[in-house]
Amino acid sequence: EKGGYDHFMLKEIYEQPKSIGDTLRGRLLPEQGLIQMDGVYQFQEKLLNAQRIIIIGCGTSWHAGLVAEYIFEELARIPVEVEYASEFRYRNPVITERDVVIAISQSGETADTLAAIKLAKERGATIFGICNVVGSSIARETHAGAYTHAGPEIGVASTKAFTAQVAVLNLIAIKLAHKKGLLKESYYHRLLNELNEIPRKIEDMLKSDAQSRYIAELYKDAPNFLYLGRGYNFPVALEGALKLKEISYIHAEGYPAAEMKHGPIALIDENMPVVVIAPKSGQYDKIVSNIQEVKAREGKVIAIVNDGDSEIAKMADHVIEVKDTMEVFSPLLTTIPLQLLSYHIAVMRGCNVDQPRNLAKSVTVE
Ligand code: M6R
Repeated sequence: EKGGYDHFMLKEIYEQPKSIGDTLRGRLLPEQGLIQMDGVYQFQEKLLNAQRIIIIGCGTSWHAGLVAEYIFEELARIPVEVEYASEFRYRNPVITERDVVIAISQSGETADTLAAIKLAKERGATIFGICNVVGSSIARETHAGAYTHAGPEIGVASTKAFTAQVAVLNLIAIKLAHKKGLLKESYYHRLLNELNEIPRKIEDMLKSDAQSRYIAELYKDAPNFLYLGRGYNFPVALEGALKLKEISYIHAEGYPAAEMKHGPIALIDENMPVVVIAPKSGQYDKIVSNIQEVKAREGKVIAIVNDGDSEIAKMADHVIEVKDTMEVFSPLLTTIPLQLLSYHIAVMRGCNVDQPRNLAKSVTVE
């Protein structure tokens, strides 16, 4: 049932061209210039008139929410707040009927997310669910929603569910932005065509994982890792760090790259591997200076860069290349090598990759 892979996690990483394809199928219609989503259609007016979108989730799903904050604000110009479901539910949040809450959950059974939905519902908000498991408690509790259709995710570490969540959130944001008349037609079509290319690009990237395996071998015994990213790739840094922590038990922290100088830079010495997510799009020059800051302190830089980036290759200790894409879709590609890196490190350390200690696939306790 692992389809020839050693672990479910690896199988699920390799499934991503297909799972994202399934997420997009029937919804993204680039030839017709359309995005079709029943759940969004049902609540289109509510979404278009939302004074604010509040996104709630836990763990990796919360990271997908953070990516969505950048996407929604950039494209659809709707203010977004992203909250841990567990914090939201206990802090007497201010919610009105003009708020739309988007709840993200792979399992659809996370206790804190479910309780947060109930609270927001009582206070009159419209709740939109993004779940992977069909018919799950969260899917049933929400007013409308969109399934991610990533297929069953068995590995405790979320991989394909995350990219499917980000893909669905992209679809929704582009649809709303287009309806609001905020996108030039040519840009809108570029977005649709490029999103359609993402599964193929991931497939290409997955043809070889030799580089992440090689880097894993070198750093598998490091006690700490830092992950840095900016903009859309700041949440990817958090996600990369979480993945490493949960399956390899190496302490890792994700930071917005610019925050490094406000504290974590003190940690950097020749023993600190720093994974920097640095594709060409976004604030490239800024991230280049962050890499220089790390190198000046002899940190080991593992940079995630676009194919053929020679500038960063000169500074970094190692690079892993990803395909080029539009900035809003960047996390869909940059996440992949981070999943592989943590996977290989965990395997080399002899960890139980699919069932890490102390963790359960769905957290149904509060
Ligand atoms: O099923 P959910 O998406 O609601 O689960 C949320 C978190 O428990 C989950 O993402 C967890 O952080 C994963 N183990 C991350 O890989």
